[in-house]
Order: sequence, then C-alpha cells, then structure tokens
Amino acid sequence: MKVLVVGGGGREHALAWKLRQSPLVSELYAAPGNAGIAALADCVPIDSSSTVELGDFAEKVRMDLTVVGPEIPLTLGIADEFEKRGLKVFAASQAASEIESSKVFAKEFMARHEIPTAPFTSCASHEEALATLKKRKKTDYPVVLKADGLAAGKGVVIADSAADAEGAVADIMKRRKFGTAGDRLIVEDFLRGREVSFFALSDGEFVFPLVTCQDYKRIGDANRGPNTGGMGAFSPSVHVSQEIFEQVVEEVFVPAIRGMDREGRTYRGVLYAGIMLTEQGPKVLEFNARFGDPEAQVLLPRLKSDLAELLLASVEKRLDKIDVLWHRDRAVCVVMASEGYPESYQTDRPIDGLDKAGAMPGVTVFHAGTKRSENGPILSSGGRVLGVTALAASFDQARSAAYKAVESIHFSNRYFRKDIAQEAVAFEHRSHAGSASAASARGAES
Ligand code: AMP
Ligand code: GLY
Repeated sequence: MKVLVVGGGGREHALAWKLRQSPLVSELYAAPGNAGIAALADCVPIDSSSTVELGDFAEKVRMDLTVVGPEIPLTLGIADEFEKRGLKVFAASQAASEIESSKVFAKEFMARHEIPTAPFTSCASHEEALATLKKRKKTDYPVVLKADGLAAGKGVVIADSAADAEGAVADIMKRRKFGTAGDRLIVEDFLRGREVSFFALSDGEFVFPLVTCQDYKRIGDANRGPNTGGMGAFSPSVHVSQEIFEQVVEEVFVPAIRGMDREGRTYRGVLYAGIMLTEQGPKVLEFNARFGDPEAQVLLPRLKSDLAELLLASVEKRLDKIDVLWHRDRAVCVVMASEGYPESYQTDRPIDGLDKAGAMPGVTVFHAGTKRSENGPILSSGGRVLGVTALAASFDQARSAAYKAVESIHFSNRYFRKDIAQEAVAFEHRSHAGSASAASARGAES
C-alpha cells in the first residue's frame, strides 16, 4: 500500500514512524515532512495547505491512503478534495472540521446535543460582548473569552477582572488581534479541574475510543507563562477512572458523532476532546478534528496494533469490525524547543546527539521543527524542535529515560520543561495499583 502523510511536525513524524512499521505499507511519502520523517519516507516539497496540489500528487502516485495531521488542510477541505477524486483519505471533511475551526459552531453544537460544556454566550459584535460582560458579577471572574476562528492556539483569553476582559474584547473584536477570528466571540464560565486529552476514531457512525493523554500547555515549569502548542505529554492520564472514561464516551463522543451525522456533517477521522474533569463531572473545553501534538507522540507509541489497518478501517467504514492492542507501558514525551518560543526565537542551530539519544532503550526522538543542512548536520527550524518520547513499565522509568535522552541532545538555544510527567510519577508512587490505564479504550493492554 502507498501511504502519504500530510504535515511536517512531531505528530506527523509519530504517524510516519508508526505507519512505517506496518507490513501493509510498501511505500511511504510525506508532504512536506521534516529531517526526521525523511529517514522513513520520501518527502515531497508540497505545503500541507496546498490541497489541490496534494490531490494531484496523490492521484499521480496512485496513493492508497493519505493521512492528514494538521488542522489547516482540514479546514481547507482536503478530505472533500481527495474524496472527489476517489482517493482514500483519513481526514475530517471541511464541514466536520468546523467543530475545531469555529468555536461558536462547536459551543452551539454542544448545546444542541446536550454535551456537557461551560455555560456560554456567543457575541456577534463588540457591543454585544460588552453587554454580556456587564451582566457578570465580580464573583463571576475569571471569565474565558474565545475568538471564533483558528488563531494558532492563541485565541483564548482568561481574564481575571472586568477591566481585563473588556481590554481583551477590544483587542479581539475592535483591534482585530486575530483577524477575522474576531468577528464573533464566546464568553464562557471558567472551569476548575484537571485537563485531559481524549481521542476517538470514527467512521461516521462507530465510536472507537483511544487511550487518554495529558498535555502540558504552558511554556514554564509549574504551568507558568504563556500557552504553547504543547511542551510535553504523558499517556495514560492518571486522573481518568474506568467510570469517568465511560462517562466521556457516552456523554461526549457518542452524542458528538451522532449529532454531526444528523446535522449532515458526518464525522470520519479522529475527534479530539479537550476535557476538564470538574467536580460536576467531565466538561468539554474544546474539540479538535485531528490528533493532538505532542499527544500523538505518546499515544501512537503505545499502540501495539497496525496503525495503517486501523486508519483504513475508519476510512472504509468498518471500525466496528476491528480490534486493537495497546502496550501496558507508560509513555512520556518531553518537547525540546528554541529559547523564546512561543514568541520570537532563533533557528538554524546544529543539533548534536540525536543518534545517541535515539539508541537509548525505549526512546524515540520525534522531529518537529528540523531540517537537514546542505553539508549534513540537522538544524533547528522551528519553535518546537523535537519531541523525545520514552516508553517503559512505569512513569518513573519512562520519565527518567526521556530526560536522560533530552540531556544528551544539544543545540545552543535549547529549552525544555523540567517537570513533565512529575505528577504521573507522584501518582504512581501514591497508588501502587497504578492508574486506570487503558480504561475502556477500545482494545486490551498487553
Ligand atoms: P481551547 O482552545 O478552547 O481549548 O482553550 C485553550 C486552553 O484554555 C484550554 O486548553 C484550557 O487550558 C483553557 N480553557 C479553555 N476554556 C476554558 C474554561 N472554560 N475554563 C478554564 N480554562 C479554559
Ligand atoms: N496539544 C494540544 C493540541 O494539539 O491542540
């Protein structure tokens, strides 16, 4: 089978790495890929947002399956473009991916289908947003403001006071800090609790839950500083019991997949639910129409079964007939970034120690922002540069292995968090029974 991976970050490296292990995959391509993916796949220099060009390429090569990583091509309709040409593609359609690209659609959709989420008001103008804020009492703060469109993960503001909220509303709706994403705004209640990333595959009908992950969104240790794409992750989450897992499947994924189908937006692909575990039960913070990054870098290494077979089953609408196995092992991923990320940072720094780190037991080094220089060495080329994942019998061992590998990789402006998976290790030490692990994810652990 000829398979194309669209994208060029850590998530796509993890997808390519797992697909390469499949006996079904004879030829693997990536567009545009990166220096790490290039060791596994033929990289073609087509941007992941050039959906027509990607369609032309896939048609020419007679691609048997295309797997799309990032959100931009989804919102540009890559699934629709490929399906029109009769090409198999693992990607949510343009209409389905609106669950990620429009916060207003997502929130109103959740309200229509009684999916638990924070109470909210959607506002279509600056005046409406100010009037909504005026109704809030002092005790109703912090408040969460969400610009409507994709804003590279930066469109969410948590405001501690009415004055801060009014300032942020003006930035978004008047000064258009996030462009047209500021046409509409969600004002929603702040939720307290633990945040967990849940994933499920769907073939339009059947819901196939995957294992849980926890992501570290803030740049600094102890969750300080600005939000990023994600600075590390571990899997499984240590806060999800079997009962909570089943509740999320029943109250979130099943009504979401049914609801999308009923609304003529049949959902095929992977659905990511960012869930807050609150005292009142699990509530959806956001939906994404793709795998999380870095979550994919801990989720995919824990999958024992064939990824190509699984994704193909989703595309061919036979997920109900498939079963998978998961590794019982715990996975920890530490992201190595360029100092200054998520603001400005420098690139083109030579990276040393990649081979040594990659040869350590249980360790896989996924590339995010890397490129190969003309005379050989691999250079940094982005904010998030590498995702160093380790798989081991315990979180303690996986965390130690990941950090040992990180310490052996050098580039002059490297930055990484020091506290990834610390809470998982602490949890493990407290409860000898271990976490709920795969809980009721489809498939058993072995
Ligand atoms: P979103 O893009 O909607 O997931 O928002 C980005 C981040 O903002 C989330 O991962 C949460 O950490 C935080 N967040 C979003 N909505 C809320 C909320 N209602 N209460 C508390 N934190 C939130
Ligand atoms: N790690 C969060 C995301 O992929 O959106």
